Amino acid sequence: MRLSSLLLLAAVLACVSLPLTSCEGKQLSKEKLLVVTVATKETDGFRRFLRTAKHFNYTVKVIGRGEKWKGGDYMGAPGGGQKVRLLKAALEEVKDQDKVILFIDSYDVVFASGPKELLKKFQQARHKVVFSSETLIWPDRHLEDKHPHVREGNRFLGSGGFIGYLPNIKELVADWSGEDDDSDQLFFTKIYIDAAKRKSINITLDSKCRLFQNLHGSLDEVVLKFEDGRVRARNLPSDTLPVVIHGNGPTKLQINYLGNYIPNTWTFESGCTACKEQLLPLAGLKESEHPLVVLAIFIQQPTPFVTVFFERLLKLQYPKNRIKLFIDSRETHHERHVSSFLRDHGSLYHEVKFIGPEEKMDGAESRNLGFDFCRKDADCDYFFSMDVEVVLKNENTLKILIEQNLPIVAPMITRAGRLWSNFWGGLSADGYYARSEDYVDIVQGRRVGVWNVPYLSSVYLVKASVLRSELTDFELFTSHTLDPDMAFCHNVRAKGVFMFVSNMHTFGRILSTENYQTNHLHNDLWQISENPVDWEERYINENYTRIMQDKLIETPCPDVYWFPVFSDVACDHLVEEMEHFGKWSGGGSKDTRIQGGYENVPTIDIHMNQINYEKEWQKFLLEYIAPITEKMYPGYYTRCSTPLNFVVRYKPDEQPLLVPHHDASTFTINIALNSKGVDYQGGGCRFLRYDCSVQAPRKGWALMHPGRLTHYHEGLPTTAGVRYIAVSFVDP
Ligand SMILES: *[C@@H]1O[C@H](CO)[C@@H](O)[C@H](O)[C@H]1NC(C)=O
Ligand SMILES: *[C@@H]1O[C@H](CO)[C@@H](O)[C@H](O)[C@H]1NC(C)=O
Ligand SMILES: *[C@@H]1O[C@H](CO)[C@@H](O)[C@H](O)[C@H]1NC(C)=O
Repeated sequence: MRLSSLLLLAAVLACVSLPLTSCEGKQLSKEKLLVVTVATKETDGFRRFLRTAKHFNYTVKVIGRGEKWKGGDYMGAPGGGQKVRLLKAALEEVKDQDKVILFIDSYDVVFASGPKELLKKFQQARHKVVFSSETLIWPDRHLEDKHPHVREGNRFLGSGGFIGYLPNIKELVADWSGEDDDSDQLFFTKIYIDAAKRKSINITLDSKCRLFQNLHGSLDEVVLKFEDGRVRARNLPSDTLPVVIHGNGPTKLQINYLGNYIPNTWTFESGCTACKEQLLPLAGLKESEHPLVVLAIFIQQPTPFVTVFFERLLKLQYPKNRIKLFIDSRETHHERHVSSFLRDHGSLYHEVKFIGPEEKMDGAESRNLGFDFCRKDADCDYFFSMDVEVVLKNENTLKILIEQNLPIVAPMITRAGRLWSNFWGGLSADGYYARSEDYVDIVQGRRVGVWNVPYLSSVYLVKASVLRSELTDFELFTSHTLDPDMAFCHNVRAKGVFMFVSNMHTFGRILSTENYQTNHLHNDLWQISENPVDWEERYINENYTRIMQDKLIETPCPDVYWFPVFSDVACDHLVEEMEHFGKWSGGGSKDTRIQGGYENVPTIDIHMNQINYEKEWQKFLLEYIAPITEKMYPGYYTRCSTPLNFVVRYKPDEQPLLVPHHDASTFTINIALNSKGVDYQGGGCRFLRYDCSVQAPRKGWALMHPGRLTHYHEGLPTTAGVRYIAVSFVDP
């Protein structure tokens, strides 16, 4: 190696290792930096930008506020000339000629780091003006060859972000005389590809994304990087950590996704920080001071547990006189549920607006109308939309959502035991469902926060002020190609309004409405497989789950076990269902319903299979009876493949009792479906061998006893009223 090159190498090394002062002049001080951005409107994206700017203490000058935007469509087409005009004018007002200007978009930009790092990287670029770079050329592809080659990274200029010394930036925009809807990107590109101008203004591109990351064309290259208490984006090919992240072009959803983390919106260390800011506390407000909410309920298909929905609605923690109900019930099947609720409780609410099936509105129309009901009502502060299949277990949901103080926010609900939720984390290119990287973590509660998402449905809160500003379009739900929910979200996204989903609390779940038959009186009884959690809550005794640990199983007679299994509602529904069906057997020994056609000890009864309840009953036995059988008769396992399940009716003038008999079973389940002393007198069951009786059956409690050989028994006379029991002969 020659001496001269050694010296050169030493000089380079010195420069790298010495503080910048010795090579580039002084490190620029933070005070020298001025961020300039155009925002004609205060969009949600703009507010997000400001939050990140404030987090890092950037000084931001916002220009164009309140001015009408004429710079072209925010989503497509060239445009943006208005920004150049506004910038040019604004620079005239900057007095300090030493200023460094960072000019960036703001609706779709977040800062990932602070001024110090930005300025340092700017100085290291050793040019007077540094433009952000892009992988794609736009808007004029024909200019490709004119672009200087770069050794690594992106070759094309992006106008969404650049930084430079004031005099150079002034020179850059000096020749602007275009129209507001001319392309700013084309204007700057033409300067950049002009070698003379590039040299005189001293422009370079940030090809390796050390300062700026434009997402368009680079989505696969950018990943989140979690470091102590903060989150950045990493550009993989260049292995850089850009300072400014820009969701340019069609990458608004990706910047929303990244913005859920960067710079500290959500971190592993402190969880969600942004969602604890700017809350709107309701605590301490008098009832009359609560915001007025239009609570809309949409019943658009036959749905299980609608009566339970209304019971829960009553328990929602919010002053009812600050709620106006809007009920769209297109489903005739549920008319009786809605009208009985309104008859009993409607007057508690501030106002009730009811849209019945006779109005013949489709799903989109009634939702449009619901929004308008709030929009046009000057008193309306919030619109809370709820589909009837939503099971809101959290009584504070409405309050929690209002306090979150966001334009649109949904409580996260999921389908019990499945990876189904009322939001999407991502969107496919054609606008349908796509799974975001964090989707599973959010649904399963490993990441807890308030998330900006592209799609939500089923239950959400909308600020009325947003309905009266960005979302004034009456037909938000209407579309030729999309279903109403997708049309709504599409329109909301197009208006730049943010939708959030919160999993900060457990809110509830959503029912499956598939396979819901409406041909019975109490159709919910049939939901044991489709909606098992809701079925259990409705129909299984509240004490059932603790019968083992709390030793609630009683032994009234030898080898006879007695325990709570059904809720009162289950008993009532089963009896009503049987009476509704009404085809009680005559009680004679000839019985075509059973094998052999002959019944030794006939009862007045209806078999479960007569009301098409055999499958469900067997599932009930397997889920709720078999585990107890196996505990109480150790070593005995049952598949509960029972030949006979039925409801018996005892009545003094019909069949008051049953003579002593053996059951044709290995063991028998006998569940009391109503209450002694209330519904009937007498009754009970006596085991002759032990001379032992259960005289006072308890409603919802099951008696379990061996059938053949040992437990010869009789049904004691019912002396008044009507007694019902549900019986299963389990074999083997
Ligand atoms: C921003 O400024 C405040 C005080 O003005 C200071 O407490 C805070 O640490 C600064 N933040 C950063 C990221 O520099
Ligand atoms: C740009 O300016 C730097 C000093 O900041 C200088 O070293 C470099 O040669 C200039 N480049 C051009 C192309 O003028
Ligand atoms: C459950 O048990 C408690 C006492 O432990 C009792 O007060 C309550 O009534 C029981 N619930 C039902 C449905 O039987």
